Amino acid sequence: MDIQRVGIVGCGLMGSGIAQCAAEAGCQVWVKEAEESFLAKGLARIHGAWDRAVAKGKVTEGQRSAWQKNLQGTLSFATLADCDLVVEAIPERLDLKLQTFAELDRILGPAAILCTNTSSLSVAQIGPVLEPTRLGRFAGLHFFNPVPVMPLVEIIRTLATTEETLAALRGFVQGLGKTAVMAPDAPGFVVNRLLVPYLLDAIRCAEQRLATPEDIDAAMKLGCGHPMGPLHLSDFIGLDTMQSVAEVLFDAFGEPRFKAPSLLRQLVASGRLGRKTGSGFYRWEGEKRLEALSL
Ligand code: 3HC
Repeated sequence: MDIQRVGIVGCGLMGSGIAQCAAEAGCQVWVKEAEESFLAKGLARIHGAWDRAVAKGKVTEGQRSAWQKNLQGTLSFATLADCDLVVEAIPERLDLKLQTFAELDRILGPAAILCTNTSSLSVAQIGPVLEPTRLGRFAGLHFFNPVPVMPLVEIIRTLATTEETLAALRGFVQGLGKTAVMAPDAPGFVVNRLLVPYLLDAIRCAEQRLATPEDIDAAMKLGCGHPMGPLHLSDFIGLDTMQSVAEVLFDAFGEPRFKAPSLLRQLVASGRLGRKTGSGFYRWEGEKRLEALSL
């Protein structure tokens, strides 16, 4: 199956990144948001990235205008009716996801593939709201932040996902210029199961004053060649997201290494969610990390 028409539900950081990559890959993309202001913000993020690419001389004006033509916003599920693939990228609330998938299943044609970009929920848990005939064409498609840059996508199959669907998704991921790995439908899939305990341990090190946040980050960046230190990366991912992923992993495995440290909970409770709120372990000005804040 050749995926050409793609719907993305949710135009936040992940949804807009997926929409951007699909439009750049030549797909016809409709991105759906619940409110005009969210849609405008998400589309502005994508158009801003394309403008910066033209300004840097990495992309021609012609290329940008072709990409712009491939991308449209909508507030209505009905606009997605002709899509070959719809990827859901809304907040990590099961109730919202179930409503969204029930609606998508109702309006989409029988051959369409439905995917969730959930980073922590069980993919199979969403299945019961789908018609039994759709289950073979339902899977997880987990992207990484920042989506336009990170080359990995985890494909998560349920017991019902067909080989034909997996082949179509592998082809789609390859068309985006990214690499797919098959991941189990188990909490954290592969990447978050390994990454999150490491990040939580770094937070415990900061909590125990083992070293300053800057030194913890410098140690892992320079000592291990990581692109960002773990506290910097936690701010980048969002401390609220980190806490909710940790809760899902701890509920599932009950191992102390998955438990959200009290420092993480305190930062979240005080509204220091990382880059997106301008403060977390560090102070932020947009994308720019500034000094470490007191803990
Ligand atoms: N959006 C789009 N593009 C971005 C970007 C963003 N937020 N940040 C950087 N870029 C682009 C830049 O424009 C630049 O592009 P260019 O080479 O065409 O000019 C390129 O990326 C490199 O950027 P910089 O030179 O500014 O900075 P770095 O070399 O430090 O790279 C980074 C930035 C790619 C974000 C790098 O620091 C990195 O890989 N960090 C780790 C990110 C990571 O681990 N992500 C996974 C998070 S876990 C997750 O998403 C799972 C979820 O379920 C929680």
